[in-house]
Amino acid sequence: MTDASSTQRTLVLVKPDGVRRGLAGEVLRRIEAKGYTLVAVELRRADEALLVEHYAEHAGKPFVGPLVEMMASGPVLAVVAEGHRVVEGFRSLAGATDPTLAVPGTIRGDFGRAWGRPVIENLVHGSDSPESAAREIALWFPGL
Ligand code: RTP
Ligand code: MG
Repeated sequence: MTDASSTQRTLVLVKPDGVRRGLAGEVLRRIEAKGYTLVAVELRRADEALLVEHYAEHAGKPFVGPLVEMMASGPVLAVVAEGHRVVEGFRSLAGATDPTLAVPGTIRGDFGRAWGRPVIENLVHGSDSPESAAREIALWFPGL
């Protein structure tokens, strides 16, 4: 996608491990410091139905049960951020899925690590394409 395309939105979640660690504000700070606009921010508990739908692409994978359980284990900060190429931009801020290998300077690289638990805990979620973003924003913020 080029920079000339229309502005974009993405869904960011500070996952329960991130909220528990007190990193919700740090994630919002990095989104804003990068220059993106906050469109919606809500601290909420996600129920299982929402999480199964959110992770539909992973249905049947061995980690999906522990993933849904981990995501339901505490409040999540759900965020919609906006700006040109924000989908890629936030994925870049987040860093690689495996927090042990995520590059320092990224959210996962600076604050994440392995804990030996059944599912990778990596603090944040970011939509992986504009199509995923539209689907996920409709799920988490049906009023937007
Ligand atoms: P996210 O969707 O949360 O932004 O992360 P991602 O795109 O980097 O990773 P994805 O492949 O979509 O996986 C979703 C989340 O599932 C957990 N996971 N655990 N083998 C494992 O234990 C495993 N694989 C994936 C992680 O929390 C990952 O972010
Ligand atoms: Mg993903």
